[in-house]
Amino acid sequence: MTKPLPAKPAASGRQGPVELDVAGLLDDPRTRIIVCCGSGGVGKTTTAAALGLRAAERGRDVVVLTVDPARRLAQSMGLSRLDNTPRPIAGVDESAGGRLHAMMLDMKRTFDEIVEAHADPDRARQILANPFYQSLSSSFSGTQEYMAMEKLGQLRRSDEWDLIVVDTPPSRSALDFLDAPERLGRFLDGRFIKILTAPAKAGGRAYMRLIGAGFSMFTNAITKVLGAQLLKDVSTFASALDTVFGGFQERAEQTYRLLQTPGTSFVVVAAPEPDALREASYFVERLAEERMPLAGLVLNRVHRSRAPELSAARSLAAAETLEESGRHPLAAAALLMHADRTQLETRECRLRDHFTSAHPSVPVTEVPAQAEDVNDLTSLREVGQALATPN
Ligand SMILES: Nc1ncnc2c1ncn2[C@@H]1O[C@H](COP(=O)(O)OP(=O)(O)OP(=O)(O)O)[C@@H](O)[C@H]1O
Ligand SMILES: [Mg+2]
Repeated sequence: MTKPLPAKPAASGRQGPVELDVAGLLDDPRTRIIVCCGSGGVGKTTTAAALGLRAAERGRDVVVLTVDPARRLAQSMGLSRLDNTPRPIAGVDESAGGRLHAMMLDMKRTFDEIVEAHADPDRARQILANPFYQSLSSSFSGTQEYMAMEKLGQLRRSDEWDLIVVDTPPSRSALDFLDAPERLGRFLDGRFIKILTAPAKAGGRAYMRLIGAGFSMFTNAITKVLGAQLLKDVSTFASALDTVFGGFQERAEQTYRLLQTPGTSFVVVAAPEPDALREASYFVERLAEERMPLAGLVLNRVHRSRAPELSAARSLAAAETLEESGRHPLAAAALLMHADRTQLETRECRLRDHFTSAHPSVPVTEVPAQAEDVNDLTSLREVGQALATPN
Protein backbone atom coordinates (compact mmCIF):
# COMPACT_ATOMS: atom_id res chain seq x y z
CA MET A 1 0.00 0.00 0.00
CA THR A 2 1.28 3.46 -0.72
CA LYS A 3 0.38 6.50 1.27
CA PRO A 4 -2.41 8.34 -0.49
CA LEU A 5 -0.74 11.72 -0.52
CA PRO A 6 2.50 13.41 0.30
CA ALA A 7 2.36 15.37 3.54
CA LYS A 8 1.55 18.98 3.14
CA PRO A 9 4.33 21.45 3.67
CA ALA A 10 4.06 23.05 7.09
CA ALA A 11 2.03 26.24 7.27
CA SER A 12 3.67 29.65 7.17
CA GLY A 13 6.72 28.48 5.24
CA ARG A 14 8.16 26.50 8.15
CA GLN A 15 10.00 23.30 7.34
CA GLY A 16 7.99 20.09 7.62
CA PRO A 17 9.08 17.42 10.06
CA VAL A 18 12.28 15.45 9.59
CA GLU A 19 11.41 12.08 8.13
CA LEU A 20 11.63 9.05 10.46
CA ASP A 21 13.52 6.40 8.49
CA VAL A 22 11.74 3.28 9.72
CA ALA A 23 13.03 1.15 6.83
CA GLY A 24 16.63 2.02 7.71
CA LEU A 25 16.03 1.51 11.43
CA LEU A 26 14.60 -1.99 10.93
CA ASP A 27 17.30 -3.09 8.49
CA ASP A 28 20.18 -1.82 10.60
CA PRO A 29 21.72 -4.80 12.44
CA ARG A 30 22.76 -2.44 15.24
CA THR A 31 19.08 -1.92 16.12
CA ARG A 32 18.51 -4.56 18.80
CA ILE A 33 15.58 -3.19 20.80
CA ILE A 34 12.67 -1.02 19.75
CA VAL A 35 10.30 0.20 22.45
CA CYS A 36 6.90 1.50 21.36
CA CYS A 37 5.41 3.85 23.88
CA GLY A 38 2.67 6.44 24.00
CA SER A 39 -0.65 7.11 25.68
CA GLY A 40 -3.59 4.68 25.78
CA GLY A 41 -5.25 3.44 22.60
CA VAL A 42 -3.02 5.25 20.10
CA GLY A 43 -1.73 2.12 18.34
CA LYS A 44 1.33 0.99 20.33
CA THR A 45 0.51 -2.72 20.03
CA THR A 46 -0.35 -2.37 16.34
CA THR A 47 2.87 -0.46 15.65
CA ALA A 48 4.99 -2.97 17.59
CA ALA A 49 3.45 -5.91 15.73
CA ALA A 50 3.77 -4.17 12.34
CA LEU A 51 7.43 -3.28 12.95
CA GLY A 52 8.15 -6.84 14.10
CA LEU A 53 6.47 -8.38 11.07
CA ARG A 54 8.25 -6.11 8.64
CA ALA A 55 11.68 -6.72 10.18
CA ALA A 56 11.08 -10.50 10.16
CA GLU A 57 10.00 -10.48 6.52
CA ARG A 58 13.15 -8.53 5.69
CA GLY A 59 15.26 -11.28 7.17
CA ARG A 60 15.68 -10.57 10.86
CA ASP A 61 15.06 -12.89 13.75
CA VAL A 62 12.49 -10.97 15.74
CA VAL A 63 10.52 -11.36 18.93
CA VAL A 64 7.66 -9.03 19.80
CA LEU A 65 6.99 -8.69 23.49
CA THR A 66 3.41 -7.63 23.72
CA VAL A 67 1.18 -6.72 26.59
CA ASP A 68 -2.51 -7.27 26.45
CA PRO A 69 -3.01 -7.14 22.66
CA ALA A 70 -6.50 -6.74 21.27
CA ARG A 71 -8.09 -10.19 21.22
CA ARG A 72 -8.56 -10.44 17.50
CA LEU A 73 -5.00 -9.38 16.73
CA ALA A 74 -3.71 -11.97 19.20
CA GLN A 75 -5.85 -14.65 17.57
CA SER A 76 -4.76 -13.77 14.07
CA MET A 77 -1.15 -14.01 15.19
CA GLY A 78 -1.89 -17.42 16.67
CA LEU A 79 -1.39 -16.21 20.23
CA SER A 80 -4.16 -17.92 22.07
CA ARG A 81 -2.96 -17.73 25.64
CA LEU A 82 -0.88 -15.77 28.02
CA ASP A 83 2.43 -17.35 28.71
CA ASN A 84 6.01 -16.36 28.99
CA THR A 85 7.43 -18.27 26.04
CA PRO A 86 7.98 -16.66 22.64
CA ARG A 87 5.71 -18.45 20.15
CA PRO A 88 6.42 -18.65 16.40
CA ILE A 89 3.89 -16.74 14.30
CA ALA A 90 2.46 -18.63 11.35
CA GLY A 91 1.86 -16.98 7.98
CA VAL A 92 5.02 -14.86 8.04
CA ASP A 93 7.02 -14.81 4.80
CA GLU A 94 10.32 -16.33 5.88
CA SER A 95 11.93 -16.36 2.43
CA ALA A 96 14.45 -13.69 3.43
CA GLY A 97 15.64 -15.91 6.28
CA GLY A 98 13.89 -14.13 9.15
CA ARG A 99 11.42 -15.39 11.75
CA LEU A 100 8.79 -13.76 13.89
CA HIS A 101 7.99 -14.85 17.40
CA ALA A 102 5.62 -13.13 19.77
CA MET A 103 5.01 -13.39 23.42
CA MET A 104 2.19 -12.12 25.53
CA LEU A 105 3.48 -11.10 28.87
CA ASP A 106 2.03 -12.91 31.83
CA MET A 107 2.84 -10.64 34.73
CA LYS A 108 2.12 -13.08 37.46
CA ARG A 109 4.15 -15.82 35.79
CA THR A 110 7.12 -13.45 35.36
CA PHE A 111 6.89 -12.44 39.01
CA ASP A 112 6.77 -16.10 40.08
CA GLU A 113 9.77 -16.93 37.89
CA ILE A 114 11.83 -14.21 39.55
CA VAL A 115 10.94 -15.46 43.00
CA GLU A 116 11.72 -19.06 41.99
CA ALA A 117 15.03 -18.06 40.45
CA HIS A 118 16.21 -15.89 43.32
CA ALA A 119 14.96 -17.38 46.55
CA ASP A 120 15.80 -20.81 47.95
CA PRO A 121 13.04 -23.37 47.31
CA ASP A 122 11.50 -23.14 50.81
CA ARG A 123 11.44 -19.37 50.78
CA ALA A 124 10.06 -19.40 47.23
CA ARG A 125 7.22 -21.73 48.23
CA GLN A 126 6.45 -19.51 51.20
CA ILE A 127 6.30 -16.40 49.06
CA LEU A 128 4.30 -17.97 46.24
CA ALA A 129 1.70 -19.35 48.63
CA ASN A 130 1.28 -16.03 50.38
CA PRO A 131 -2.10 -14.45 49.65
CA PHE A 132 -0.69 -10.96 49.79
CA TYR A 133 1.96 -11.88 47.26
CA GLN A 134 -0.68 -13.42 45.04
CA SER A 135 -2.71 -10.26 44.91
CA LEU A 136 0.31 -7.96 44.65
CA SER A 137 1.85 -9.89 41.79
CA SER A 138 -1.24 -9.57 39.68
CA SER A 139 -2.61 -6.21 40.68
CA PHE A 140 -0.06 -3.83 42.12
CA SER A 141 -0.08 -0.77 39.90
CA GLY A 142 3.19 -0.62 38.06
CA THR A 143 3.86 -4.36 38.12
CA GLN A 144 2.90 -4.62 34.48
CA GLU A 145 5.42 -1.97 33.49
CA TYR A 146 8.00 -3.42 35.80
CA MET A 147 7.52 -6.93 34.46
CA ALA A 148 7.83 -5.72 30.86
CA MET A 149 11.25 -4.32 31.83
CA GLU A 150 12.20 -7.52 33.60
CA LYS A 151 11.21 -9.70 30.66
CA LEU A 152 12.99 -7.42 28.22
CA GLY A 153 16.19 -7.77 30.25
CA GLN A 154 15.83 -11.55 30.20
CA LEU A 155 15.22 -11.73 26.45
CA ARG A 156 18.16 -9.45 25.71
CA ARG A 157 20.51 -11.41 27.95
CA SER A 158 19.53 -14.65 26.18
CA ASP A 159 20.97 -13.08 22.98
CA GLU A 160 18.72 -15.31 20.87
CA TRP A 161 17.16 -12.51 18.86
CA ASP A 162 18.38 -9.99 16.29
CA LEU A 163 15.65 -7.62 17.32
CA ILE A 164 13.27 -7.33 20.27
CA VAL A 165 10.23 -5.13 19.76
CA VAL A 166 8.54 -4.10 22.99
CA ASP A 167 4.96 -3.00 23.27
CA THR A 168 4.29 -1.06 26.45
CA PRO A 169 1.17 -1.47 28.56
CA PRO A 170 -1.74 0.91 28.43
CA SER A 171 -1.13 3.27 31.28
CA ARG A 172 -2.78 6.35 32.60
CA SER A 173 0.40 8.20 32.05
CA ALA A 174 2.85 7.40 29.31
CA LEU A 175 5.61 7.90 31.85
CA ASP A 176 4.72 4.89 33.97
CA PHE A 177 6.98 2.68 31.93
CA LEU A 178 10.10 4.64 32.87
CA ASP A 179 9.05 5.10 36.45
CA ALA A 180 8.13 1.50 37.17
CA PRO A 181 11.45 0.13 38.47
CA GLU A 182 11.91 3.03 40.82
CA ARG A 183 8.31 2.91 41.98
CA LEU A 184 8.46 -0.79 42.72
CA GLY A 185 11.73 -0.23 44.54
CA ARG A 186 10.19 2.60 46.53
CA PHE A 187 7.20 0.47 47.40
CA LEU A 188 9.32 -2.46 48.57
CA ASP A 189 11.69 -0.19 50.36
CA GLY A 190 8.95 2.02 51.75
CA ARG A 191 8.20 2.83 55.33
CA PHE A 192 4.91 1.01 55.39
CA ILE A 193 6.55 -2.24 54.30
CA LYS A 194 9.38 -1.67 56.79
CA ILE A 195 6.93 -1.32 59.61
CA LEU A 196 5.06 -4.40 58.54
CA THR A 197 8.29 -6.32 58.17
CA ALA A 198 9.56 -5.30 61.57
CA PRO A 199 7.57 -7.77 63.74
CA ALA A 200 8.76 -10.70 61.68
CA LYS A 201 12.32 -9.47 61.80
CA ALA A 202 12.74 -8.10 65.26
CA GLY A 203 10.21 -9.77 67.50
CA GLY A 204 7.73 -7.99 69.78
CA ARG A 205 9.78 -5.87 72.15
CA ALA A 206 12.38 -4.77 69.68
CA TYR A 207 9.56 -3.95 67.33
CA MET A 208 7.99 -1.65 69.92
CA ARG A 209 11.30 0.11 70.41
CA LEU A 210 11.81 0.38 66.69
CA ILE A 211 8.59 1.98 65.76
CA GLY A 212 7.37 3.55 68.98
CA ALA A 213 3.95 3.55 70.55
CA GLY A 214 2.39 5.84 67.97
CA PHE A 215 3.04 3.44 65.18
CA SER A 216 2.02 0.53 67.29
CA MET A 217 -1.40 2.12 67.63
CA PHE A 218 -1.32 2.65 63.93
CA THR A 219 -0.62 -1.01 63.20
CA ASN A 220 -3.23 -2.03 65.75
CA ALA A 221 -5.71 0.07 63.87
CA ILE A 222 -4.63 -1.55 60.61
CA THR A 223 -4.97 -4.96 62.19
CA LYS A 224 -8.55 -4.11 63.07
CA VAL A 225 -9.34 -2.89 59.60
CA LEU A 226 -7.47 -5.47 57.59
CA GLY A 227 -7.69 -8.38 59.93
CA ALA A 228 -4.84 -10.05 61.80
CA GLN A 229 -4.37 -12.77 59.21
CA LEU A 230 -3.86 -10.35 56.37
CA LEU A 231 -1.38 -8.31 58.36
CA LYS A 232 0.53 -11.47 59.13
CA ASP A 233 0.49 -12.37 55.44
CA VAL A 234 1.85 -9.00 54.45
CA SER A 235 4.48 -9.15 57.09
CA THR A 236 5.69 -12.66 56.21
CA PHE A 237 5.62 -11.79 52.57
CA ALA A 238 7.57 -8.59 52.91
CA SER A 239 10.29 -10.15 54.99
CA ALA A 240 10.53 -13.09 52.61
CA LEU A 241 10.71 -10.76 49.65
CA ASP A 242 13.52 -8.93 51.35
CA THR A 243 15.80 -11.80 50.38
CA VAL A 244 15.21 -11.28 46.68
CA PHE A 245 14.70 -7.54 46.80
CA GLY A 246 18.33 -6.61 46.17
CA GLY A 247 18.21 -8.58 42.94
CA PHE A 248 15.02 -6.85 41.83
CA GLN A 249 16.48 -3.44 42.10
CA GLU A 250 19.77 -4.39 40.51
CA ARG A 251 18.19 -6.00 37.48
CA ALA A 252 15.83 -3.07 37.03
CA GLU A 253 18.84 -0.78 36.94
CA GLN A 254 20.62 -3.03 34.44
CA THR A 255 17.63 -3.01 32.12
CA TYR A 256 17.35 0.73 32.53
CA ARG A 257 20.97 1.14 31.43
CA LEU A 258 20.39 -1.28 28.55
CA LEU A 259 17.62 1.01 27.35
CA GLN A 260 20.08 3.90 27.22
CA THR A 261 22.49 2.11 24.89
CA PRO A 262 22.59 3.01 21.18
CA GLY A 263 21.16 -0.43 20.20
CA THR A 264 17.83 0.70 21.66
CA SER A 265 15.37 2.97 19.87
CA PHE A 266 12.27 4.43 21.42
CA VAL A 267 9.37 5.08 19.10
CA VAL A 268 6.70 7.36 20.50
CA VAL A 269 3.27 6.61 19.05
CA ALA A 270 0.51 9.22 19.00
CA ALA A 271 -2.80 9.82 17.32
CA PRO A 272 -3.22 13.22 15.66
CA GLU A 273 -5.25 14.48 18.59
CA PRO A 274 -4.42 17.16 21.14
CA ASP A 275 -4.22 14.90 24.22
CA ALA A 276 -2.16 12.18 22.57
CA LEU A 277 0.25 14.71 21.07
CA ARG A 278 0.57 16.60 24.33
CA GLU A 279 1.49 13.36 26.02
CA ALA A 280 3.87 12.47 23.17
CA SER A 281 5.56 15.83 23.65
CA TYR A 282 5.98 15.22 27.32
CA PHE A 283 7.34 11.76 26.63
CA VAL A 284 9.89 13.05 24.11
CA GLU A 285 11.15 15.48 26.73
CA ARG A 286 11.24 12.85 29.43
CA LEU A 287 13.20 10.43 27.20
CA ALA A 288 15.74 13.17 26.53
CA GLU A 289 16.04 13.86 30.27
CA GLU A 290 16.66 10.18 30.94
CA ARG A 291 19.09 10.02 28.03
CA MET A 292 17.06 7.34 26.29
CA PRO A 293 17.65 7.13 22.51
CA LEU A 294 14.58 8.38 20.66
CA ALA A 295 14.07 7.26 17.04
CA GLY A 296 11.05 9.46 16.44
CA LEU A 297 7.30 9.86 16.42
CA VAL A 298 4.75 7.65 14.69
CA LEU A 299 1.66 9.66 13.95
CA ASN A 300 -0.92 6.91 13.63
CA ARG A 301 -4.40 7.00 12.10
CA VAL A 302 -4.00 10.17 10.09
CA HIS A 303 -6.66 11.19 7.58
CA ARG A 304 -5.65 12.48 4.23
CA SER A 305 -7.99 13.83 1.60
CA ARG A 306 -7.91 12.09 -1.75
CA ALA A 307 -8.63 15.27 -3.69
CA PRO A 308 -6.53 17.98 -2.05
CA GLU A 309 -7.08 20.40 -4.93
CA LEU A 310 -10.73 20.76 -3.90
CA SER A 311 -10.77 22.93 -0.79
CA ALA A 312 -13.25 22.48 2.06
CA ALA A 313 -14.77 25.91 1.37
CA ARG A 314 -15.40 25.22 -2.32
CA SER A 315 -16.68 21.77 -1.55
CA LEU A 316 -19.14 23.17 1.03
CA ALA A 317 -20.32 25.89 -1.33
CA ALA A 318 -20.93 23.35 -4.10
CA ALA A 319 -22.81 21.07 -1.68
CA GLU A 320 -25.05 23.98 -0.64
CA THR A 321 -25.83 24.88 -4.23
CA LEU A 322 -26.74 21.28 -4.98
CA GLU A 323 -28.88 21.02 -1.86
CA GLU A 324 -30.75 24.21 -2.72
CA SER A 325 -31.47 22.89 -6.19
CA GLY A 326 -32.79 19.67 -4.61
CA ARG A 327 -30.93 17.66 -7.23
CA HIS A 328 -28.05 15.18 -6.95
CA PRO A 329 -28.41 14.43 -3.21
CA LEU A 330 -25.67 11.81 -3.37
CA ALA A 331 -23.18 14.21 -4.91
CA ALA A 332 -24.09 16.79 -2.25
CA ALA A 333 -23.48 14.22 0.49
CA ALA A 334 -20.13 13.23 -1.04
CA LEU A 335 -19.07 16.88 -1.19
CA LEU A 336 -20.03 17.37 2.46
CA MET A 337 -18.02 14.32 3.43
CA HIS A 338 -15.06 15.59 1.46
CA ALA A 339 -15.32 18.98 3.20
CA ASP A 340 -15.38 17.24 6.59
CA ARG A 341 -12.37 15.16 5.75
CA THR A 342 -10.41 18.11 4.41
CA GLN A 343 -11.13 20.08 7.58
CA LEU A 344 -10.03 17.09 9.65
CA GLU A 345 -6.83 16.88 7.63
CA THR A 346 -6.16 20.57 8.16
CA ARG A 347 -6.68 20.16 11.92
CA GLU A 348 -4.40 17.14 12.04
CA CYS A 349 -1.67 18.91 10.04
CA ARG A 350 -1.90 21.89 12.38
CA LEU A 351 -1.48 19.62 15.41
CA ARG A 352 1.46 17.87 13.80
CA ASP A 353 3.09 21.20 12.94
CA HIS A 354 2.58 22.37 16.49
CA PHE A 355 4.44 19.28 17.73
CA THR A 356 7.18 19.72 15.13
CA SER A 357 7.76 23.35 15.96
CA ALA A 358 8.22 22.39 19.63
CA HIS A 359 10.48 19.45 18.72
CA PRO A 360 12.02 20.30 15.35
CA SER A 361 14.65 17.57 15.53
CA VAL A 362 12.25 14.71 16.24
CA PRO A 363 11.70 12.66 13.06
CA VAL A 364 8.10 11.80 12.21
CA THR A 365 6.38 9.18 10.09
CA GLU A 366 2.67 8.96 9.43
CA VAL A 367 0.35 5.97 9.16
CA PRO A 368 -3.01 6.55 7.53
CA ALA A 369 -6.16 5.40 9.31
CA GLN A 370 -7.06 2.05 7.77
CA ALA A 371 -10.66 1.45 6.77
CA GLU A 372 -10.97 -1.21 9.47
CA ASP A 373 -9.23 -2.27 12.67
CA VAL A 374 -5.84 -3.86 12.14
CA ASN A 375 -6.54 -7.47 12.99
CA ASP A 376 -4.55 -9.69 10.66
CA LEU A 377 -1.14 -10.12 9.09
CA THR A 378 -2.25 -8.53 5.81
CA SER A 379 -3.30 -5.30 7.46
CA LEU A 380 -0.25 -5.36 9.74
CA ARG A 381 1.89 -5.61 6.60
CA GLU A 382 0.11 -2.54 5.22
CA VAL A 383 0.77 -0.61 8.41
CA GLY A 384 4.42 -1.73 8.27
CA GLN A 385 4.66 -0.52 4.69
CA ALA A 386 3.12 2.83 5.61
CA LEU A 387 5.52 3.17 8.54
CA ALA A 388 8.49 2.61 6.25
CA THR A 389 7.26 4.84 3.41
CA PRO A 390 8.35 8.48 3.47
CA ASN A 391 5.40 10.80 4.12
N1 LIG B 1 -3.69 2.87 11.47
C1 LIG B 1 -4.78 2.31 11.98
N2 LIG B 1 -5.91 2.26 11.25
C2 LIG B 1 -7.04 1.69 11.73
N3 LIG B 1 -7.13 1.13 12.95
C3 LIG B 1 -6.04 1.16 13.73
C4 LIG B 1 -4.81 1.74 13.30
N4 LIG B 1 -3.91 1.60 14.30
C5 LIG B 1 -4.55 0.97 15.30
N5 LIG B 1 -5.83 0.71 14.97
C6 LIG B 1 -6.84 0.06 15.82
O1 LIG B 1 -7.01 0.86 16.97
C7 LIG B 1 -7.23 0.06 18.13
C8 LIG B 1 -6.18 0.38 19.18
O2 LIG B 1 -4.90 0.02 18.69
P1 LIG B 1 -3.81 -0.66 19.64
O3 LIG B 1 -4.41 -1.79 20.40
O4 LIG B 1 -2.63 -0.94 18.80
O5 LIG B 1 -3.53 0.57 20.60
P2 LIG B 1 -2.68 0.59 21.93
O6 LIG B 1 -1.98 1.90 21.98
O7 LIG B 1 -1.84 -0.63 22.01
O8 LIG B 1 -3.83 0.54 23.00
P3 LIG B 1 -3.67 0.24 24.58
O9 LIG B 1 -3.11 1.51 25.17
O10 LIG B 1 -5.06 -0.05 25.02
O11 LIG B 1 -2.74 -0.92 24.69
C9 LIG B 1 -7.16 -1.40 17.65
O12 LIG B 1 -8.48 -1.84 17.43
C10 LIG B 1 -6.42 -1.30 16.32
O13 LIG B 1 -6.81 -2.33 15.41
MG1 LIG C 1 -1.70 -2.12 23.52
